[in-house]
Amino acid sequence: MDETRVFRALGDGNRAKIVSMLTEGEMCACEILLRFGFTQPNLAYHMKTLCDSGLVRGRKEGRWMYYSLCPDVIDGIGKMMNALSGGKGGIHTDDGRRDRIREDYASIARKGGASCLCATNAYGREDLEFIPAEVIGRNQGCSSPLADAKRYLRRGDTIADLGCGAGLDVFIASRYVGPEGKAIGIDMTPEMLEVADRAKGEVSSVLGYDNTEFFRSFIEKLPLEDSSVDVVISNCVINLSSDKGAVFSEIFRVLRPDGRFIISDVFSLDPLPEYMKNDRDLISRCFGGAMLIPDLYRIAGEAGFTGIHPVHTDSYSRIDGMDFISATYCGSKPHPPGDDAGRFTAVLIGPPSKVAIETGDVFVRDVPAEVEASVAEMLRGDAYSRYFSIYRDGVPEKTEGVKVLPVPGPCVFTGKFAVPVGPFPVFEDDDRHVYRLGKALEICNKTEKVLSDPLYGGLVMITDRSAGRAVDAAETCCGPECKC
Ligand SMILES: C[S@@+](CC[C@H](N)C(=O)[O-])C[C@H]1O[C@@H](n2cnc3c(N)ncnc32)[C@H](O)[C@@H]1O
Repeated sequence: MDETRVFRALGDGNRAKIVSMLTEGEMCACEILLRFGFTQPNLAYHMKTLCDSGLVRGRKEGRWMYYSLCPDVIDGIGKMMNALSGGKGGIHTDDGRRDRIREDYASIARKGGASCLCATNAYGREDLEFIPAEVIGRNQGCSSPLADAKRYLRRGDTIADLGCGAGLDVFIASRYVGPEGKAIGIDMTPEMLEVADRAKGEVSSVLGYDNTEFFRSFIEKLPLEDSSVDVVISNCVINLSSDKGAVFSEIFRVLRPDGRFIISDVFSLDPLPEYMKNDRDLISRCFGGAMLIPDLYRIAGEAGFTGIHPVHTDSYSRIDGMDFISATYCGSKPHPPGDDAGRFTAVLIGPPSKVAIETGDVFVRDVPAEVEASVAEMLRGDAYSRYFSIYRDGVPEKTEGVKVLPVPGPCVFTGKFAVPVGPFPVFEDDDRHVYRLGKALEICNKTEKVLSDPLYGGLVMITDRSAGRAVDAAETCCGPECKC
């Protein structure tokens, strides 16, 4: 790290603010422009200074530049500040963190009980009927990745569960993949794996075969061969890792091309303050290390995954004014590019009037756009297929997309916020509201109705900051020129 360049770059107020904004995650140049009102040359100058100092890096995707902080340099500054404050600074390091988490889960394995708001009710009765009570009593998951993974699992598949605890999801998966398949559990806490080992015999005697295997290991370094797994699942674990980049790189390495991750976890809707990020109880209960939604997209995207999208979201908890949700996300390891070099046309069906996708391509509803074969394939995948029509040869003269318009009537704000959960980094509705991944946008009762329409369902999560209090707000101005 070149300290002189770093501190010189931060010596300008605007650049310091840009760096502070980038702590929220990777950001498109268009968004920085929008927030600061810079001119293009002004922005280019500041970003070049930040990139030259090593603090920030940029990457081009489609038409846009995207900027993010360089973790090594930020870590270097953190260590320097920590040293200056005699080690008492609020800078987070991983020292002892994994050991404390392991102690906490060892104690749960011995006694039973729950660290987080466990979700055994996310499972069907038929999934649980052959699982020993000792395993069910140690369920620490926040949802059920398997409920969503089922449709991707075929008999004979290999599935790996990262942070399997006492093995609940491994045993359930073992039935789905059958005797020709394999269900692998990985966990760092021996006491959890002892429960799984005790249950193994009972489960295999009910199923009539044993296709489960458990490893004691860290999820940041998986004891599995490259390209050896069809589906990776994880239930309320990745939040506990302080090196989430390593976890996703490892998932990518062990998955076969076309393989998928389906992970359930706790996500924070707001950047957490240091006191929450470093609180032992909140960390072990899966809140302190919860990712922001844009962080998941950035980290998994950097590992190589495409088509990242939510398959299930649920409200979870509010602590000290911070909202947490439980969500299950899926992402795919792309297969090597085929030789289909043709040109395709994509048409956005709606209901958004405009969207940007992960490649930086922007689509306007009902307006045909020529795309490369790789983009066409991505748009046909699970993440986007319901929003697009793809044509290889010729496009219909006119397409009638799907709109959801607000009903006329009074416009009242009652404490509701829409949080876009993906797959689009940005989209717009017919009232020209712009929704950015993971950023809560205050909405009026009319927009709430629009976004609650099943056609929009799944693109945003609506949270209630009034926490159900009867808000007696006056009606406000309504129309595209107003704030609603
Ligand atoms: C909240 S529990 C979830 C357990 C299980 N997935 C379930 O649904 O019951 C978290 C588990 O992850 C394990 N774990 C946490 N961090 C880990 C790491 N870095 N490497 C391996 N296992 C880890 C813990 O030992 C614990 O069993």
